[in-house]
Amino acid sequence: MKKEYYDYLVERCPQAKEILEDPQYLALEKIPRHFYSNTLEHSVHVALLMGWLAERHHGDVASCIKVGLLHDMCFVNYREENDHPGLYCFYHPEEAIENGDASYGLNEHETLSIRCHMWPLAFHMPASRMAVALTLTDKVTAVYEVLYGMKRVSRTVRRFAERVMPEFR
Ligand SMILES: [Fe+2]
Ligand SMILES: [Fe+2]
Repeated sequence: MKKEYYDYLVERCPQAKEILEDPQYLALEKIPRHFYSNTLEHSVHVALLMGWLAERHHGDVASCIKVGLLHDMCFVNYREENDHPGLYCFYHPEEAIENGDASYGLNEHETLSIRCHMWPLAFHMPASRMAVALTLTDKVTAVYEVLYGMKRVSRTVRRFAERVMPEFR
């Protein structure tokens, strides 16, 4: 993680230090997300955007950053075969609530925001400003990560092709 991201998150949300230095939380780096990303990277991106939005719209910056960091705290690797019952898009917010609350504590507002972040692929609709912000931020970040990942892959393929077939440069 970039140092400036860490510094911003910890400065604006004191609990982010505890979260971002917890080996249990850092294991999210091993959980893939959106093809080219991982869950740690994705959660940090969502937290940064949530913090930015909260600052501009007079929201609770610390709480918004916290839900950004914790909204996908589920350790099931959906790309691998697993015996977890149900569909990932439905159960991972509930697991994130369970894990986030057990490790760092979540208030009711934060719990409800995480619960509906997959809306409309969720039974619960966002019913607060923070919940709407998390739902939108999560989707915008996902699109950005997929596009950025595709760009990175195409750059790597191009470099490889130029190395093995210099005549196509
Ligand atoms: Fe999610
Ligand atoms: Fe997410």
